[in-house]
Amino acid sequence: MRKTIRDIHKLQADGEAIVMITAYDAFSARLSEAAGVPMLLVGDSLGMVVQGHDVPIPVTLDHIIYHASIVTRVTTTPLIVGDLPFMSYTISSKQALASAARLLREGGVGAVKLEGGAVMAPTIRRLVEVGIPVMGHIGLMPQSVYKVSGMRVQGRDLESAQALLRDAHAVEKAGAFAIVLEAVPAPLAKIISDRLTIPTIGIGAGVGCDGQVQVFHDLFGLYGDFIPRHAKRYTDLGAQITETIRQYADDVRAHRFPDDEHSFGMKDDILRALTGDEPPKIGTDDDAAD
Ligand code: KIV
Repeated sequence: MRKTIRDIHKLQADGEAIVMITAYDAFSARLSEAAGVPMLLVGDSLGMVVQGHDVPIPVTLDHIIYHASIVTRVTTTPLIVGDLPFMSYTISSKQALASAARLLREGGVGAVKLEGGAVMAPTIRRLVEVGIPVMGHIGLMPQSVYKVSGMRVQGRDLESAQALLRDAHAVEKAGAFAIVLEAVPAPLAKIISDRLTIPTIGIGAGVGCDGQVQVFHDLFGLYGDFIPRHAKRYTDLGAQITETIRQYADDVRAHRFPDDEHSFGMKDDILRALTGDEPPKIGTDDDAAD
């Protein structure tokens, strides 16, 4: 049974930290579901970790729908949230409704996420009014990377901290069911979390949030050498994968792979009839291997 917004709110009510992780494909989605993660985000971070861009700006709605449809197809339990990418919801509420409708209908997600505070409140309200659950996202908003001149912590001075508080309240009042706080000083994230009733999901926002989200590739060392401060690399699978590929390449070059165990044989009499020669000694003559 797939988790609902009510289930996510119950986690918050029970004081259980809400775990969210990004997923973009069958691999990341299945593994995260197997680990019991209740909420997956098909984030526009796929622009960086899947598509190889430096910023999420090139990600389109079609890209998110494509990845969301995979994640929803291969999972049955987590709530899947789909990111509305750059310029797919900011032109008008009408555009946001059309984009979100496609993400629900074609991507199969149960909620959408969009970046923006008070300025996006009317759009959030409209989406919620027609039955589309919305997760807000304030603080560092990667789709505004050019405006803020890079991926930097937000809300450090009094004025911007107050603005973030106002934004958080506006997003909640507009009807969002949860809000991501990205790259916000931990004390400010704690104040916001204490003042809101909806769950806050932090990334680079400290332990005072109601939940945490991480980018799948960051946890496993699968995104190059750069480790953002907010990311924790639990294991370096990237190095292990490279080493494994090196071993495979060495085996191929040395003709050690494929060996008999990984090859299919043929019966000697058929080979003899085929070539008139003694059969070559490669592959196991094993019917069971067919
Ligand atoms: O796209 C994404 O992965 C995100 C998370 C970092 C919150 O927006």
